Amino acid sequence: MRSLLFTASLLATTLSSVQAAYSLKDSWSGSNFLSNFDFFTASDPTHGFVQYVDASTASSLGLTKVQNGAVIIKADNTTVSSSAGRKSVRITSKKAYTKGLFIFDVNHVPFGCGTWPAMWTVGPDWPNNGEIDIFEGVNKQSTDSMTLHTKQGCTMPSSRNQKGTTVTSNCWVNAPGQSSNQGCGVTNNQATSYGDNLNNAGGGVYVTQWGADGIYIWWFQRSAIPANIKSGAPDTSTWGKPDAAFPLGSSCPNDFFANHNIVVDLTFCGDWAGSVWGSSGCPGSSCNSYVQNNPSAFNDAYWSINSFKVYQ
Ligand SMILES: *[C@@H]1O[C@H](CO)[C@@H](O)[C@H](O)[C@H]1NC(C)=O
Repeated sequence: MRSLLFTASLLATTLSSVQAAYSLKDSWSGSNFLSNFDFFTASDPTHGFVQYVDASTASSLGLTKVQNGAVIIKADNTTVSSSAGRKSVRITSKKAYTKGLFIFDVNHVPFGCGTWPAMWTVGPDWPNNGEIDIFEGVNKQSTDSMTLHTKQGCTMPSSRNQKGTTVTSNCWVNAPGQSSNQGCGVTNNQATSYGDNLNNAGGGVYVTQWGADGIYIWWFQRSAIPANIKSGAPDTSTWGKPDAAFPLGSSCPNDFFANHNIVVDLTFCGDWAGSVWGSSGCPGSSCNSYVQNNPSAFNDAYWSINSFKVYQ
């Protein structure tokens, strides 16, 4: 009996450590990166001053290219825009995922007045399958915003095991007392998590662990990337507190999140960057007119991506 129990507990320990290990499902980089994405060319659902271009237009205008092994995805920074908006790129992964460990290695992110860059995941029939905003901000924002958006019935506890600061706790897009579609947001407190500071640190990795018990986001600037990420054997138990913790369970069912595509986009002005223009410290009274008329203000409006890796 004793030895049987011992064997059973040994087996359970072995099984759980086997289950905890991730294996690499997808790895996109360099010239194989963009073929995993569709280009979104409809008008921006967030009402940005942007013209999203298709794959061949992006390539011929130099808005997408591979440079020194990194994938560059950028906005037009050479022409005064038409009244339709500044040309830019929004891509959606062909594959969709439910749960997993997502490691986005970026060298450079878009930054500056008028910009609204985002790296995020989203399910079909929004908001019924949820949205996870991993990297997002507007204008001269200082650090990253991490946010979930859901249907009604998902809230976050007031006390969470995270390094970041809770902004709002109701993830429902129509939550009373929150701005329309605000979701439940957490501000990253690491200075290198956004903008010029991120770029000057040589970038780093955004890691999202999406499991049955929660969604957790870590930012590691380049000099602080854990060795087990670099070696391809990521072990979340060694990383300490995440920057954002979104526990799932009775207050937010985990089936509110399913079949997520990965999206990378850069829009301008619109529902967020435009609506806060007056308090952003950016020049003039109109975000759209600034974005339209100042192409050279968008020299920093580009992504440089080393790789996206998905483990499950
Ligand atoms: C546009 O931005 C890129 C960086 O994305 C820069 O290398 C280039 O010089 C800029 N073009 C002009 C005309 O300023």
